[in-house]
Amino acid sequence: MLRRTLAASLAAAGILAPAAASAFTAEQIAKGEAHYQQDCARCHASPQMLLESTPGATTFKKGVWMTPFLARHHAPVQSTRALIIGYIESFGD
Ligand code: HEC
Repeated sequence: MLRRTLAASLAAAGILAPAAASAFTAEQIAKGEAHYQQDCARCHASPQMLLESTPGATTFKKGVWMTPFLARHHAPVQSTRALIIGYIESFGD
């Protein structure tokens, strides 16, 4: 479930080719957490609350919304941004 949601968001955002989507791993989510702690946590202590306040009716739509937003908001590097979004989405359904 988690992998499908995350992979679908990244694929929709043009980050992952759909064929590669299922390759996302718990290790990549953990890397996203490390980036989140370094780049985001000082202002957003709770990733759960951040996910809730992000526009979008579903976790999938929130992930899509975040992608261009974060490009201008503390996550300019695409590969890092994808990992961070994956970590935040892991708190969704
Ligand atoms: C210096 C403080 C600061 C840092 C660092 C920061 N943010 Fe934010 N963030 C804010 C503020 C303030 C807002 C609300 C105002 C706005 O939209 O810019 C916000 C808004 C957001 C939103 C929109 C949803 C909402 O709650 O308003 C998302 C998503 C988000 N940040 C994610 C991140 C992520 C992911 C990182 C790390 C890559 C990050 N932010 C780093 C301060 C920060």
